Parts: sequence; C-alpha cells; structure tokens
Amino acid sequence: MAKPQVSFTCQSCAARSNKWAGQCDACGEWNTIVEETPLSAGPGKALKGARGRRLTLTDLATKEAPPPRSSSGMDEFDRVLGGGLVPASAILVGGDPGIGKSTLLLQAAARFAMAGLKTFYISGEEASAQVRLRAARLGLTDAPVKLATETSLRDIMTTLDEERPDLVIIDSIQTMWSDNVESAPGSVSQVRATAQELTTFAKRRGSAVVLVGHVTKEGQIAGPRVVEHMVDTVLYFEGERGHQFRILRSVKNRFGPADEIGVFEMTGSGLAEVTNPSALFLSERGKPAPGSVVFAGIEGTRPVLVEFQALVAPTPHSQPRRTVVGWDGGRLAMILAVLESRCGIPFTGLDVYLNVAGGLKVSEPAADLAVAAAILSAREDVALPADSVVFGEISLSGALRPVGQTENRLKEAAKLGFTSAIAPAGGKITGREGMSLREMPDLTAVVGEVFGAG
Ligand code: TYD
Ligand code: MG
Repeated sequence: MAKPQVSFTCQSCAARSNKWAGQCDACGEWNTIVEETPLSAGPGKALKGARGRRLTLTDLATKEAPPPRSSSGMDEFDRVLGGGLVPASAILVGGDPGIGKSTLLLQAAARFAMAGLKTFYISGEEASAQVRLRAARLGLTDAPVKLATETSLRDIMTTLDEERPDLVIIDSIQTMWSDNVESAPGSVSQVRATAQELTTFAKRRGSAVVLVGHVTKEGQIAGPRVVEHMVDTVLYFEGERGHQFRILRSVKNRFGPADEIGVFEMTGSGLAEVTNPSALFLSERGKPAPGSVVFAGIEGTRPVLVEFQALVAPTPHSQPRRTVVGWDGGRLAMILAVLESRCGIPFTGLDVYLNVAGGLKVSEPAADLAVAAAILSAREDVALPADSVVFGEISLSGALRPVGQTENRLKEAAKLGFTSAIAPAGGKITGREGMSLREMPDLTAVVGEVFGAG
C-alpha cells in the first residue's frame, strides 16, 4: 500500500505545500506551517470509471419561492441575516474572544426556540452548567433550548441526524474534533473538516447551523478562511472591549445584502438592541471642538451618523505617527498626501491621530471628506459648526466625488437635529430634507472656505 502522502498546511491562509518552511509563501506569515495528513481523497478506486448520474437542468426563468424565514424578534439580529433565519443555511459568526458571541447566540437561540424552532446549543467550551448560569443571568431559563457540551463531531452528527433540529449553534468550531482527521482541534484541517460536515448536514436536513469562530489578532477567523467559502453567511461581531457597543456585521450573505449592521449594547443582563444607533454614537459628543466632525454614513441599508475625532500635534519623534482606530490607515495616508500635494497643507513633523467614536469600523469611501475635515479642523484649530454633517469621496486629484444615498444621509442628519451639510458639488440631489447644503467642488475649496486656510 502506498504510504499516505504528508502535506503541510499554513494555519493562517490554508495554503498547502509539500515541504515545511518557516514562512508561508502564500500569505507571508511566520511559523504557521504545520504537517497534516490530507483528507481522504474522495471516492475510492471502486468508483473510478463508473458513470455518474445525469443532471436535471433548469432554466433561469424557473420560478423560485423566496426562502421561508424565521424571525427571532430581535430586529437588529434579523436584519443582519437579511430578514430572518433561512432554513438549510450555514452561518459563521466570527469575533474576538470575549466580545459576546456566546451571549448573543444564546439570546438568539432562546428567541428562536420560543418562536417554535427546535433549537440546540452545543458548546465545546463551556459546561452546560455554565451555559445555564449565563441563561439565568440573561433571564432566559424558560426558553426551550436544548443544551449539550460536546466536542466529538461523530457524536454530535449522530444526535443531529436523529433529532433533526431546526437550528443548531456550535460554539465554537475551533473546539470541534473529527476522528477522520489526524490533527489537533483548531487546526486548519480539523476546522475545515468539521465545518464541511456541519454545512453538509444543514443542506441535507434543512437545519440552520450557526458556527461560532474565534478571530485571531490579525482579524481572521482563526485558521481557515476556507470556512468563509463554505458557509452561506459570514457575520462578524465587533466592538471595543472598553466600550459597551457591539456591532454585528454581515460580510457575506447568500440570502441578503452584505455590509448590513445590527447594533447592540452590552449590559449587565446581556445584549440589548440599539434601534437608533446614530443617537447612541453621538451621545458622548460634547461641545463643538476642533478635530470633531460628524459623518453622515450608510451602513448596509441604514444611515448612521458617527463622530470622527482627529488630533494633530507636533511630533517628538523623528518619524511622525499616524494612528487610526475604526478606519483604514492606508486611506488616511492617501488623504494626508492629497492635502499636502493638492492643497499645500504640510504634515511634516506632525503626528496625526484619527478615531471613530463608539467603536464602529467605517469602511465607506464617503467618509474621506469627514476625515479630511476632522484633520483640517484639528490642524487649523477651527471647530466646525455643531449643527453640520460632512460626507463625500476624495479623489487623488483633490476633486470631490458625489456619493450614493445622499437623501438618506440628509434625512438621518435632519432627524437628529442637524441643519447643514458639507458635501461634494454635482450630486443629483432631489430632496434636501430641510438641510442647507454647502456644495464643494474640491478639497481646496473646503480648505479655503470652511477653514480659511491654504
Ligand atoms: P461571551 O459571550 O462569553 O464572549 P465570547 O463568546 O465572544 O467569547 O461574553 C463575555 C463577556 O461578556 C464577558 O466579559 C462578560 C460580558 N457579559 C456582560 O457584560 N453581560 C452579560 O449579561 C453577559 C452574559 C456577559
Ligand atoms: Mg464564547
């Protein structure tokens, strides 16, 4: 018999090679390559050469009923799923350890169970007594959720196949272990194999399966991105440890829009839904101060106002610092470069700090102008009027580009008591929602007219 071939897999990006190396060629990470025996290579020899089954082909016009969805009654959770839980779907919920994934999913499980779904919560990390204790703290002891503590995938599959629940929570996929694979729980091979089997189960039996996945320091689901490809929906649970806000974000969803967010607040008795996130994100805002700018953003299908805070100060270091929380560092460098070369505002010898208040991570390019305004406001020591919001994309030439959903942005700003907006000129704006608009063609105009600099 041929010796089983040994292969080496990077635990960070799942790239495979046939020799060990200190650094992964594919992702550049160090010390992530481990030896693993490959999964059995599909159908055995006996099947080779056998004829397959003929496929039934359909056409695009075939009518498909929308998937029936179950509601948890938590609007913030249902919206992120695309309007409720879809049967026969696999969902991955990723997040830092301790951010509140188990709490959120226990609460959701309880809601779904009370709505009539047969719901299992299988923990590989905590004893059932611990989960019960948490349930008591959350006031959920009466919910008909079935608990088990188990890490053996074989035992779990047997139980699921017999019981056929509507919803199963697996907390967490890194603790699960399949005896078909010869490597430690949490390794890429194990996570891939167990996630594959659970996803297949979801499709085969029509259950919804939620996999909890811990995220590494680098912000990836520990080990494999492969799980992201396997499942239908990928949600991330984000937030700053010190803050009470938590954001559930869909980064992939085969059954709804991606980039949708649900906002929660961590309280002594679990996660509470936040129905008006703008009010919450702006609640800590004090008097108008230099460096503070309110951005009228869109998260998924919903407008959200957030405060950008900037600080610009002479640096004591030879290399000035650029520190960003909640936004992209590369994009900040681009905006500083545009301010320097197009508007003549130098940042040599100055540290620049940028922060999105409340722990939200903003990724819209529409935030460019808010970032530039916050930096200019800090640098020139000029506060923007307290009642104004800012949005717009900046191009490398220094021109401002109109952004989508302007009406929704203005409407949300008006709802929260703002009366004016600084925005790119040339947007086809139909409704102004009672807001006065200062339309700017380029960044130089903003520098001169708003901040009297340049
Ligand atoms: P947990 O759900 O265990 O996080 P994860 O599963 O993502 O690792 O949440 C852990 C934190 O949440 C813990 O630090 C305590 C806090 N917490 C509350 O503040 N209120 C609560 O009601 C509960 C249950 C937890
Ligand atoms: Mg947990």
